[in-house]
Amino acid sequence: MVTGKDSVEEAKKNAAREACNIVSKKISSNTILGLGTGSTIKYFIDECREFIEEVKGAVVSSYDTLYYMLERELDIPIYDPLSIKKIDIYVDGADEVSTTLDLVKGRGAALLREKYLALRSSTRVYVVDYTKYTGLEYLYKKPIPVEVIPFALPIVLESVRELGLFTPVLRHGIKKDGPIVTDNGNFIVDLKPIKPIEDPFEIDRKLRLIHGVVETGIFPSRELVDVVVVGYSDHVDILEKKSIE
Ligand code: A5P
Repeated sequence: MVTGKDSVEEAKKNAAREACNIVSKKISSNTILGLGTGSTIKYFIDECREFIEEVKGAVVSSYDTLYYMLERELDIPIYDPLSIKKIDIYVDGADEVSTTLDLVKGRGAALLREKYLALRSSTRVYVVDYTKYTGLEYLYKKPIPVEVIPFALPIVLESVRELGLFTPVLRHGIKKDGPIVTDNGNFIVDLKPIKPIEDPFEIDRKLRLIHGVVETGIFPSRELVDVVVVGYSDHVDILEKKSIE
């Protein structure tokens, strides 16, 4: 029997395979594919390599994904996202998924570019293992990462505390002293929810009104999510936004 860490890895692979099934039906030689960041997306890249190499080109959300693709020697043009107006299909992982398909993302600190790519995409598919799907109607389990301009950190911390909804914690590096720095040269503050986030769309907007906050890791279902593939060690669930509305 597959248990513990092995079962999570198996679940990620199963989800990645199913996402590849879904994506392979939607791509052609004209497709621009967007790729997110994280361990599950790496499984997707490996599982779906044959189809990925058929598309016109890809845009990626981080140096991490870019270097992974270069290391793997994928035969596909990688475009600067700024040169692409529309992404046909975007595939990414997530950290928390509610029953309303609202998401928390940003454990890997790539949330700003991930959201940019998701906003530019016609179809957004997220690939997660079963530990990410909470079965709750609200977001609550994972801290919400926010990307913050370093100069504005004090005002961000004060403003978040005033909201009374989160405990803010500056994210520190593991093999680096001090705060981690994102691909965009900013800091990450993780906001631990004090209470359930029942309206992620509103809270996302509220947080983005704070001076110095560049982006949040809340991906509201209503604007950024189409399909979530949840992998288990022995099966996969496909959750589509249309079917829950
Ligand atoms: C990157 O910043 C994140 O949003 C990831 O997409 C998310 O943390 C999922 O990562 P894993 O697939 O490694 O769990």
